Amino acid sequence: MPTHNSGNNGHILRTLDDLPIDGKRVIVRVDFNINVGTDGVIDENEDYRIEAALPTIYELQQRRCKVLVLTHLGRPGEEDGNFDVTPIRHRFEDLLKEDVRELAKLSGNGVEAVVTSMEPGSVAMYPNIRIEDREMSVNQRFGQELAAVAEAYVNEAFSVSHRTHTSVALLPQLLPSCAGRRTTMEVEKLLKLKRNPQHPYVAIVSGAKITTKVGMLRQLLAKVDTLCVGGQIGNVFVAAKGLWKHHPFDVDEIVVAKAILDAAGGKLLIPVDVVIGGSKGENKQVVSVDQIPEDAGGLWDIGPQSTQAIINACSTAKSVMWNGPLGMFEVEAYADSTHQLVTELSKMSAYRVVGGGDTAHALELYRATKKYDHVSVGGGAMVAFLEGKRMPGLEPLMS
Ligand code: 3PG
Repeated sequence: MPTHNSGNNGHILRTLDDLPIDGKRVIVRVDFNINVGTDGVIDENEDYRIEAALPTIYELQQRRCKVLVLTHLGRPGEEDGNFDVTPIRHRFEDLLKEDVRELAKLSGNGVEAVVTSMEPGSVAMYPNIRIEDREMSVNQRFGQELAAVAEAYVNEAFSVSHRTHTSVALLPQLLPSCAGRRTTMEVEKLLKLKRNPQHPYVAIVSGAKITTKVGMLRQLLAKVDTLCVGGQIGNVFVAAKGLWKHHPFDVDEIVVAKAILDAAGGKLLIPVDVVIGGSKGENKQVVSVDQIPEDAGGLWDIGPQSTQAIINACSTAKSVMWNGPLGMFEVEAYADSTHQLVTELSKMSAYRVVGGGDTAHALELYRATKKYDHVSVGGGAMVAFLEGKRMPGLEPLMS
């Protein structure tokens, strides 16, 4: 029996049960946008996005499809880096336990020839879709070129479904399309939190820039019982209260934080103590927020009292949503709050949803992923979905 799942605006999302896909050539849009080290090595805690797509890939193989895997990697043109997906294809092969054929180009006769020669049930992978500028908008011609080799399309890239890009928003309109198993599950799990969260509902929002999360913070304030902030976002609130005089934030960030402070009533839990020291963990010291020294170079983590306050709020909650590590956990000296919250939350009985690449990485690092109700592959996409924003990659998948 088909499993139907509502998309963001209440329509029904088509799944792999709804598409007569057996034996077809299928483009699977995945999001294998993961950190590749300068040495080409992928950290073992980074490959969760590949693992998340495997059930759909296996199912398509069993259904004797020719599986054409398409991902983006980074933002070529906008940032420096190596945008070659070869190391990712190799990790994908390791996890899949079989060869993944390399497609040399995104479209054209060469691709058609390789796809024609593929055995049913075999897998091939395209180059990074973002090496082509036409990907970054909705380009009809490029969409047609991509669609020419395939007979169906599966979205297994929830985490990029908030983008209006050719392979995300247009390709599923040009081919019979549906959501993959992971995308279907993401929508189902997040809708539970978006529509009917059980109260008390606690949200923990952290991360780098308040201006990218302001919409989410406002939305959450209307819905949650307690909103906890940490990381740089927590630091902006500390600065907005006048407690960190020599802060690095822009005026607009402080203005946003002040407005949220005014609107929050008693719902906002901001740090009462923080960890200062050198950026590599030297001379680490916990200080109360009303005693931040003038020469503090940065507030790298929230302190033990602030961490305990968040844990206390979560311990009586029925729903918890967590987006963004509480401190700079990649430096061990500043990992205490994130590590402690990962561990304590993993033992609690609330419905716990976590999202964002860094938070997912922390859960992997502390071996806690399986103890949570849902760890979203999406960072920006999860935020957009929970805010009720348009999801151009999901809209074409709705019946
Ligand atoms: C992500 O890592 O959040 C997704 O892959 C989307 O990447 P983007 O923000 O570069 O579109």
